[in-house]
Amino acid sequence: MKALLCKQYGLPDTLSLTDVADPQPGKGEVVVDVQAAGVNFPDVLIIQNKYQFKPELPFAPGGEMAGVISAVGDGVTDRKVGDRVLGLTTYGSFAEKVALPAARSVPIPEGVGFDTAAAFLLTYATSWHALKDRGALQAGETLLVLGAAGGVGLSAIQIGKALGARVIAAASTDEKLAICRANGADETINYSTEDLRERLKALTDGKGPDVIYDPVGGDYAEPAFRSIAWRGRYLVIGFANGEIPRLPLNLALLKGAAIIGVFWGNYTAREPAHFAKDVEDMFALVREGKLKPHISGRYPLAEGARALEDMMNRKVTGKVVIEMGAKA
Ligand SMILES: NC(=O)c1ccc[n+]([C@@H]2O[C@H](COP(=O)([O-])OP(=O)(O)OC[C@H]3O[C@@H](n4cnc5c(N)ncnc54)[C@H](OP(=O)(O)O)[C@@H]3O)[C@@H](O)[C@H]2O)c1
Repeated sequence: MKALLCKQYGLPDTLSLTDVADPQPGKGEVVVDVQAAGVNFPDVLIIQNKYQFKPELPFAPGGEMAGVISAVGDGVTDRKVGDRVLGLTTYGSFAEKVALPAARSVPIPEGVGFDTAAAFLLTYATSWHALKDRGALQAGETLLVLGAAGGVGLSAIQIGKALGARVIAAASTDEKLAICRANGADETINYSTEDLRERLKALTDGKGPDVIYDPVGGDYAEPAFRSIAWRGRYLVIGFANGEIPRLPLNLALLKGAAIIGVFWGNYTAREPAHFAKDVEDMFALVREGKLKPHISGRYPLAEGARALEDMMNRKVTGKVVIEMGAKA
């Protein structure tokens, strides 16, 4: 089979399409013939050795995919050859086949395509866990989403709306903000051209947002946190900007506010039953049409590096996918 391999750590142009042996299913594993793989920011980090998880070289990046099971290992009783599944792999999905524990695969609901399935779980389940479980977002509260047109950002907008919140989306261009509005945002802020604090004050009658969802970090974190409402919850999702902000703790005291870490990958491993319930609840909203990934680009496997470059260059909105059948 072909795989897009990282043979030495570096930028996306160092990845190479390589023929490798087909994976065999180990005990408790399934092998999936990948139809589509979702691209996520951690893929950009893992190939540069900047991610918390460090696979041995060489490896194919790609943390999630959807496809059809082509082999099952010993001890697998609840999956069979021919099942349509999506799966979480941490790495390995940018390949024609991938082996993973059967427990990390999820049957794809009827009517959901491989592209949507591959673009769904990592971002939506992160935002679901962040907003519902960690942030306790309530109907009628105001949610601010930074980096709102990105993968986790757009999913946070849709989930925030599904939970009954008023959603303010902040992003760097008017084109990105138009996509946020099309995905349900009530209000928007262009943080490249507008003053974040002033706009937040104006949009919330001086009260500030109840919950802040921050996958960006860098320079936006402090003005956002200074604007948070009394009893606000600041969700630390990620640092796409590359810089980990340092927040003065007196701000937390003054607002009776909480800074809350979100580590979805660890949550799925430590609390699998809780995670399985999340998936069930989210798929119910997928069937109702309330959650739907916005797929802005499709790349063949041979051009997977371009997908990662576009993500690094802030060109991606919502999700992009690598499709085995996509045309160059
Ligand atoms: N905590 C968790 O469990 C968890 C789970 C999944 C992902 N994450 C993290 O969440 C972050 C976002 O992931 P994603 O897949 O949504 O990425 P994404 O689609 O690339 O979105 C990130 C957004 O950040 C903004 N940004 C600002 N500076 C940037 C820079 N220098 N490079 C790239 N983007 C920049 C961009 O929006 P503007 O151009 O509008 O500013 C972009 O849309 C990553 O740090 C990822 O590791 C965390």
